Amino acid sequence: MAMKVLVVGAGGREHALVRQLAASFREPVLYAAPGNPGTARHAVNVDLDPLKPEQVVAFCLQEEIELVIIGPEDPLIAGLADHLHRAGVAVFGPGAMGARLEGDKEFAKEVLVAAGVPTAHYHAFSSVDQALKHLDKTDLPVVVKACGAAQGKGVAVCDSREEAEAHIRLCLERQRFGQSGLRILVEDCLFGPELSVLIVTDGQDYALLAPSRDHKRIGEGDTGPNTGGMGAFAPVALDEDLLLEIDARIVLPVLAELRRRDIPYRGVLYAGLMLTDHGPSVLEFNCRFGDPETQVVLPLLTGDLLDLCHATAGGNLGAYLQGLPAEAPGAPEGWPGAALSDWRRHAVVVVGAADGYPGRYLKDRAVELPATEARDRWIIHAGTALKDGNLVTGGGRVLGSVGVGDTLAAARAAAYALLDGVHFEGLTFRRDIAGKGGMQHG
Ligand code: AMP
Ligand code: GLY
Repeated sequence: MAMKVLVVGAGGREHALVRQLAASFREPVLYAAPGNPGTARHAVNVDLDPLKPEQVVAFCLQEEIELVIIGPEDPLIAGLADHLHRAGVAVFGPGAMGARLEGDKEFAKEVLVAAGVPTAHYHAFSSVDQALKHLDKTDLPVVVKACGAAQGKGVAVCDSREEAEAHIRLCLERQRFGQSGLRILVEDCLFGPELSVLIVTDGQDYALLAPSRDHKRIGEGDTGPNTGGMGAFAPVALDEDLLLEIDARIVLPVLAELRRRDIPYRGVLYAGLMLTDHGPSVLEFNCRFGDPETQVVLPLLTGDLLDLCHATAGGNLGAYLQGLPAEAPGAPEGWPGAALSDWRRHAVVVVGAADGYPGRYLKDRAVELPATEARDRWIIHAGTALKDGNLVTGGGRVLGSVGVGDTLAAARAAAYALLDGVHFEGLTFRRDIAGKGGMQHG
């Protein structure tokens, strides 16, 4: 009988996951909760609240779901995986203990320091006065972060003392991020291109997906405020020694530290790195697939995503990895799990956002999609919605245009050409995704 799989979430990452699962040779029966108009093409959208674990568990038991893949951080941080695990449902995604690496940046720092992994120096504060006193002794620029999860908006890279003070007050005094901002980190600003490394692990074995690069700022040339991510590409061409250094100095020690602390972890651990002049340094962890990185790393997979997720959820990743081909053409030698990805292919996603994002933005604008997609280009829905049967904008990041090809330039051209066929009032996007800046410089 076909395997029944539930993907939790409603964004671009979840559409990308569902789309790829739908191509599995196992022909699974797919559900998305709550999903979006994109997931609805391949899955049954189920109106469940991911933050109400009892709802999700009841659905899984009733429908005999065999595998749940949890996309977003909030349900992971809230412990949805633990509830499902207790109910006997296999889950791709860590429990609350593991998800704390994303949900509590101070905890993540403690783990990094204990593991001896390079990361920016930091101080943690709950008091405005103490944070401001510390600022007086600190060099600029400085980075101020809400400790809890804030949809990528809790972090401010501050060039001036005024900006830093404003963000400190926004978090601690005005409580813009609620509980998430009642404790903050003030940390040194690092410089260099960024890199997203997605580690698939079942707590014992691990493999790394092809390295990708997000473009976090809203504006071209990496200007303006941080967003959830305006576009991404993979693989990022890097020096082989650097990739091996990332494995040896970051991935291995962090996974060992999790084991030392008896923190089980089955899913993706996303390491957000900065490639500084002094070597790679960890900016953040996420306890899940990246968005929009997922949109570009999945198309490069050589094997079946369903098998990979199922093996990981079941603690059988080692056996799965042994079944991969020994050769991975074009891969950096020694990159763990290199054969998971086709390194001779390239993928680019360009996000189409609503005017105003990441601030207040327009909603409910009619969305027109390209008439045709192709094997090398497709649209991923992120913040679209159906209103009276018509496709409209609903979120800040509305959709992503994905292109793949044998060169980065071909993949990029396909993504931008397809985006030409997207129309909605206020459509904004960056024209420099995976461009010159993107290739060499974050
Ligand atoms: P985070 O959510 O901690 O990754 O922060 C979001 C973004 O803020 C990162 O992707 C970086 O672009 C930027 N950022 C975070 N920490 C630092 C840092 N210490 N130095 C420079 N930029 C940073
Ligand atoms: N693209 C950044 C993230 O997924 O958090």
